[in-house]
Amino acid sequence: MVKVVVCGAAGGIGQPLSLLLKQSDLISHLALYDIVNAAGVAADLSHINTASKVTGHVGKEALAEALKDAHTVVIPAGVPRRPGMTRDDLFKVNAGIVRDLAQECAENCPRAFILVISNPVNSTVPIVCEVLKKANVFDPRRVFGVTTLDVVRSSRFVHEVKPQFEPQTNRITVVGGHSGATIVPILSQIKQVSFTPEEIKSLTHRIQFGGDEVVKAKDGAGSATLSMASAGARFTNTLLEASVRGTRGLVESTYVHLRGNPGAEWNARSTGLDYFAQDVELGLEGVANVLRLPDLSEEEQSLVKTAISELKGNITKGCNFVNDGT
Ligand code: NAD
Ligand code: LMR
Repeated sequence: MVKVVVCGAAGGIGQPLSLLLKQSDLISHLALYDIVNAAGVAADLSHINTASKVTGHVGKEALAEALKDAHTVVIPAGVPRRPGMTRDDLFKVNAGIVRDLAQECAENCPRAFILVISNPVNSTVPIVCEVLKKANVFDPRRVFGVTTLDVVRSSRFVHEVKPQFEPQTNRITVVGGHSGATIVPILSQIKQVSFTPEEIKSLTHRIQFGGDEVVKAKDGAGSATLSMASAGARFTNTLLEASVRGTRGLVESTYVHLRGNPGAEWNARSTGLDYFAQDVELGLEGVANVLRLPDLSEEEQSLVKTAISELKGNITKGCNFVNDGT
């Protein structure tokens, strides 16, 4: 039995993500939770002719039942940006939503993998980890900030500049976090094509601020949902492939708690941070190995330095929210 729960399943990301997860033959039960409309989404998806059972759970009192026996919980619950907002501006509303969901996970499915999509990811992942630590059920191998959209965008945007770069099969490492300057694509590691310094500069900027393109185009109607659903399904499916099927050697860039995770000491020491996104090999228990940061160009070193200083504040903000209520 592999039960996957989507929290925020009736939303802009939640619906297409749930649709994509309904296609997975590794999921036997898809539980859709939201404070509104999850029953309708579940009824609709439940008619699709794949083997998984779909259940809908609406409202706080239905959450424990949704989470019970969960193998994996994916969290795209919370408000999205509007033009002129930063991801950090979402903290006010989303921090409390994510904290409360994490508390329920601690009580009802303490061993589940938790995949955090809700922004600001740089702070919401520390929130989840601090809640689990307080409940004495924290396993750093099991909590992930989903930064896959940055990886997906990197491949696509590079392909637009260099059509010979195949975007579906070539993965680009993205380190740091998930907001503006904290997103650092490691373009110097791409071997298939070469770039001029100007191309590197403009591609890096586009990847860092790709989210803003969508927020602007949607003009008040939210942020990326469909590309995010695709990226979220990709990360979930890869984790299930590694943890359920036992396929080895699967790697994705993801934002994780460094201390206590296998292989993470080097990155923890060189960044001085407790949380960072980098390539992670996935396995039966979640994180199997945090891969060392690759060799960086001079420009990338400077970008990582900037990312680290911004991440410090984001991480502290998340931790303080849980520990001091500030
Ligand atoms: P949305 O408003 O369309 O959907 C959010 C859903 O969350 C709604 O259905 C809402 O009812 C639900 N919700 C609110 N409070 C809840 C609670 N306490 N419990 C369960 N569900 C609750 O928003 P969206 O476009 O789907 O975006 C969701 C979040 O994902 C935002 O914070 C957004 O910034 C973030 N996001 C992250 C990435 C990423 O790369 N990690 C990409 C895109 C969007
Ligand atoms: C994104 O990168 O598209 C998401 O984080 C949503 C946003 O606010 O930009």
